[in-house]
Amino acid sequence: MSGMEGTISERGRAIAQTSLKARLQPLLSDLYDARDNPGGIVDMGTAENHIMTKDVSDFANRKIRTSSKTFTYGEGPWGSKRLRIAMADHMNKYFHPVSTVQPEDLVFANGITSLCELFGYAMGEEGDGILISRPCYQAFIADFGAKAKIKCVFVPSDGIDQFSAEIVEAYETALLRARAEGTNVRALLLCNPHNPLGRCYPLETIKALMQLCQKHRLHLLSDEVYALSVFDNSDPAAVQFTSVLSFDSTPYISPNYLHVVYGFSKDFAAGGLRLGCIYSRNTALMDTISAITQFSWSGPLNQLFAAEMLEDTEWLDEFFTKSQSVLKERNEKCRTVLEEYVIEYAHGANAGFFLWINLRPYLDLSTHPDGKEAENALVAKMENEKIYLTQGTLLQTEEIGWFRIIYAQEDEVLAEGFRRLVKAIGAKKGQEGPGGIGSSDLDSMERKGKR
Ligand SMILES: Cc1ncc(COP(=O)(O)O)c(C=O)c1O
Repeated sequence: MSGMEGTISERGRAIAQTSLKARLQPLLSDLYDARDNPGGIVDMGTAENHIMTKDVSDFANRKIRTSSKTFTYGEGPWGSKRLRIAMADHMNKYFHPVSTVQPEDLVFANGITSLCELFGYAMGEEGDGILISRPCYQAFIADFGAKAKIKCVFVPSDGIDQFSAEIVEAYETALLRARAEGTNVRALLLCNPHNPLGRCYPLETIKALMQLCQKHRLHLLSDEVYALSVFDNSDPAAVQFTSVLSFDSTPYISPNYLHVVYGFSKDFAAGGLRLGCIYSRNTALMDTISAITQFSWSGPLNQLFAAEMLEDTEWLDEFFTKSQSVLKERNEKCRTVLEEYVIEYAHGANAGFFLWINLRPYLDLSTHPDGKEAENALVAKMENEKIYLTQGTLLQTEEIGWFRIIYAQEDEVLAEGFRRLVKAIGAKKGQEGPGGIGSSDLDSMERKGKR
């Protein structure tokens, strides 16, 4: 306590409790570098494509020419005309939309983080809800909740494969329960490709979720930020990516209720650019969002650079081809190491930068019978070895002990990260963890569609 709590508002105090600064700043200011900071922390927790950032930097150094206009307020906080045209062209090329994406149907802000907040603010009242499956990208809770005050209503999958159309019933049950408890659910978030599971939703599931939205007058917000970070995986559970824009969805959902967020943080390996957009044909929603983007403004220099990338289609084609091929290679490498150490991982991942891995056998449940405490104790061991992974409880896992590991790293960093991880948890090649997964547990996981 600083003794200054009384000087700020109650909502200020409440929001201060959610701050990630104390936890993340020490990590992010002491990152491992083989040459410059070998004793630093290996970050296998932050979802970035570390392999492709050099290509982005080289491109910037070659291409960027500023003018005095670049340092003005420019065309305002909605995205310049040039950027909106370039992004519409990009989406028309890669998302295969049935109706051409028009530059007027795009609004830009400083990342999807802000766009989720703006969307939440525009579509719901304080205390309303948005349905999200579990596990999920951890920041959605703050994105919708911190200022827009939209509650995430988590949908348990309870043993059903959350990518199958059968899951719709679980969404409806969660919706009705939330409504009965006084939360007016107004929207459903589809994270496709999915973070943290790295899987894509089959067309039938997308259609079924759209029908549910139509039935209950819910908005469907499709977060497609990993749309072009999809690669080949021979695993039969792997499904190719389908954008919600790529088929005639009008029989399933009104266009006024269908929206897409997309941006530069993942496919373009440029999270630091702080730039993303929302696509929607709902003019009331877009007018509301446009009225408050000045609080989430990405400057003209960032917009200029983004437009340069989008317009250099030859460079971009090569960039995506390379990115997808290195992601595939790193994904395979990561799976090979996990298999060597008999660490289970969720199958069917052909997108994103991560795998969802089961470290439950390494939880010390005899000392910490409470699963969350056991998970925290395992995290503390990782901290001692200066290796950081995202723990499942932060990602709304349904089963304690699962972690998300980021493999989109340079070879040397991946190797060092695994060296530290296996040391921290005490994993041995060819041996199951001391808690064992046990065939009966494995069977139950298989039934749950986790493998
Ligand atoms: C699914 C998903 N959506 C959104 C974001 C954040 O996007 P941005 O950097 O554009 O705010 C992330 C970042 O990890 C993510 O994984």
